Amino acid sequence: MSKVVVFEHPLIQHKLSIMRDKNTGCKEFRELLDEISMLMVYEVTRDLPTEEVEVETPICKTTTKALAGKPIGIIPILRAGLGMVDGIMSLIPNAKVGHIGLYRDPETLNPVEYYCKLPEDAEHRELIVLDPMLATGGSASAAITFIKQRGCNNIRLVNLIAAPEGIERVRSEHPDVDIYVAALDEKLNEHGYIVPGLGDAGDRLFGTK
Ligand code: PRP
Ligand code: URA
Repeated sequence: MSKVVVFEHPLIQHKLSIMRDKNTGCKEFRELLDEISMLMVYEVTRDLPTEEVEVETPICKTTTKALAGKPIGIIPILRAGLGMVDGIMSLIPNAKVGHIGLYRDPETLNPVEYYCKLPEDAEHRELIVLDPMLATGGSASAAITFIKQRGCNNIRLVNLIAAPEGIERVRSEHPDVDIYVAALDEKLNEHGYIVPGLGDAGDRLFGTK
């Protein structure tokens, strides 16, 4: 079974509390998502393999560590996942970025794919799928299915806030995918919104409502 990691770090929790506040405006919301994403990627990448490399410091030659293994690919789920890209890229600047466009049909809550462009060598990369909200799990699970259909298998999912229902769904449909969240909230409401959540992440990020 995949692992689910919930970040308890005080800085992350503090910033997330400000994001949840309905009075927090677009600019601050974007900045905070950026900062939290940066803090999360530190832990999300903790198990990446390293190899010994030789370096000559101004003092002497020494053997130290450098990243080894598969290169990284980042795949934001459009739209709201875009808000997590810069924070991650600031720590992994060489990552390639793929995009998956999905929206939730407001009636059925089912995900509809409208765009997919992955790096050419995506199947040889360690992929980090990004979406601030994991509600029913329909969007994330469908995105992961689409990515797998393109031959990729090394996938981890990073969300800001998850509902138990979303975690359950992704874990049952993709037991190989580890999930990293800043908060695991209580439940979904009758409209499929996370409670207490932060509302519509895409709208708050881009000011569309
Ligand atoms: C939001 C969010 C997730 C999805 C989560 O996107 O960013 O992608 O809903 O819900 P789910 O787990 O029930 O699928 P939305 O469909 O509102 O699209 P947007 O990012 O374009 O606003
Ligand atoms: N999508 C969001 O943006 N927020 C939710 O609470 C659920 C889905």
